[in-house]
Amino acid sequence: MTFDGLANLVRGATFDDFLLRPHYSVIARRDPSVIDLSCRFSTNITLQRPLVSANMDTVTRAPMAIVQAEEGGLGIIDRGFRNGDIEPQVREVAKVKRMQHIIIRDPYSVTPETPLADAVALMRRRRAGTLVVVDGDRRLKGLLTERDVRFVNTKAGNVASRMTPFDALVTGQGELTLQVAEQMMVQRKIKKLPLVDKNGALIGLITAKDIHRQERLPFATRDSHGRLRVGAAIGATGDFIERAAELVKAHVDVIVIDIAHGHSVVMAKAIDTFRKSFPDVELVAGNVATADGVKFLAERGVNAIKVGIGPGGGCTTRLTTSFGVPQLQALYECRAGAGDKVPLIADGGIKRHGAILEALLFGGDTVMLGSMFAGTEETPGDTVQKTVVLPDQQRSVKVPFKVLRGMASIQAIRDRLDVEDEEVVDLESIGAEGTEVSVPARGSVRPIIHDIFKHLCSSISYGGAGSLAELVKMFRADPLRYLVKLSASSKKESYDR
Ligand code: XMP
Repeated sequence: MTFDGLANLVRGATFDDFLLRPHYSVIARRDPSVIDLSCRFSTNITLQRPLVSANMDTVTRAPMAIVQAEEGGLGIIDRGFRNGDIEPQVREVAKVKRMQHIIIRDPYSVTPETPLADAVALMRRRRAGTLVVVDGDRRLKGLLTERDVRFVNTKAGNVASRMTPFDALVTGQGELTLQVAEQMMVQRKIKKLPLVDKNGALIGLITAKDIHRQERLPFATRDSHGRLRVGAAIGATGDFIERAAELVKAHVDVIVIDIAHGHSVVMAKAIDTFRKSFPDVELVAGNVATADGVKFLAERGVNAIKVGIGPGGGCTTRLTTSFGVPQLQALYECRAGAGDKVPLIADGGIKRHGAILEALLFGGDTVMLGSMFAGTEETPGDTVQKTVVLPDQQRSVKVPFKVLRGMASIQAIRDRLDVEDEEVVDLESIGAEGTEVSVPARGSVRPIIHDIFKHLCSSISYGGAGSLAELVKMFRADPLRYLVKLSASSKKESYDR
């Protein structure tokens, strides 16, 4: 039976309804640094790892997006900012884009006449160790580093009095490759290399730190300038076009129009309006859970589609509306019914690492995870100490928690509204479709991501393939070679622990 013939088998099914039969392994080492896990995120963006962190205000802000991109995936900054309050979201995007560069095109700069106190304040505000000194025509005049202002009275004097002047600097002429820049930096024992054109005008700055990072993170998701990639979500009404314009100005790599029901007149209008202003911006839309929904969005020229109505951890859509499609069935129907042209993001419902592979086999090109990352250091929000009673020992202990909440929970909606709105809108009358829960605070998300990759490699080994793409291809060519539908007792044997 081919992939297209699976409709009956997957009807009503989700991840825990199947296991996959193991096959002869052809892999010597289950090593994520050598096994190819690359995938399509959208029509114009490829990822080395099929992971995307959810656009939720308790999951993805700059710290999470940076780690995701460094590890080869992508983070989508949520739209949980107040209507009209665009700057905070733009700031999160800018933080990611500034994180890693091959060449920093717009380094923080001052003029020789800038008071030293202002330059120091700028360094502190931007956490920049180096300022480039340029004149009114952007001609390079010098560099001012933290070391130049240490132990001196910065209340008096100007930048010219402390900077390393142009004549004493090593500079690169024109666009240099990373290798040439690195050679120059090693030979001349410098950590910063400003680049100038033939008229002496600044064209960029290369730092040893960026080169080092570049080498340390071979799978990182970068744009053509070597900056980490990042996405940002917007709504379908209100300030969404203005928001998109500011995000695009901040070099966001992809915009996600994210609404609960993406197969809708509201979405059609939003995409139309968006495309008029931004014909070339990479656009993801969602969520949908049917082949018709995918076709509807694909026809409107989006570059990827989020699939998932109601499987998410913080989500109560199915409880409150009785609408939704079991996630594995949804992925299958979207893929089989709508073809291969537009990449699909399997969004929500992944509670164990093994389910990631199923999401990718049945239809997703990438998976979007929210609760799997909840409580980690990189998620936004404070850690609070809660008293927890240990049931057996009749004593209580303080345990650190963080909040995970659905973006359609009352709490998240309230935070997105203006105070004045709150007076007008009866919050309780809003049909909330999400919950807020406390999850134990844990360390960095990085080891979780690494474990996911290791487990994916093990899955590829069990599946008898050499790469993720190969396993997907083998599965889709002959799914019954793999699929084992589980009975209630075999589910228990498999997943009850
Ligand atoms: P997981 O299972 O990874 O799912 O936590 C993350 C996805 O859940 C969706 N989401 C919601 N869905 N009401 C919903 O119906 C909500 O309040 C809500 N918040 C998040 C979203 O698609 C996310 O990526």
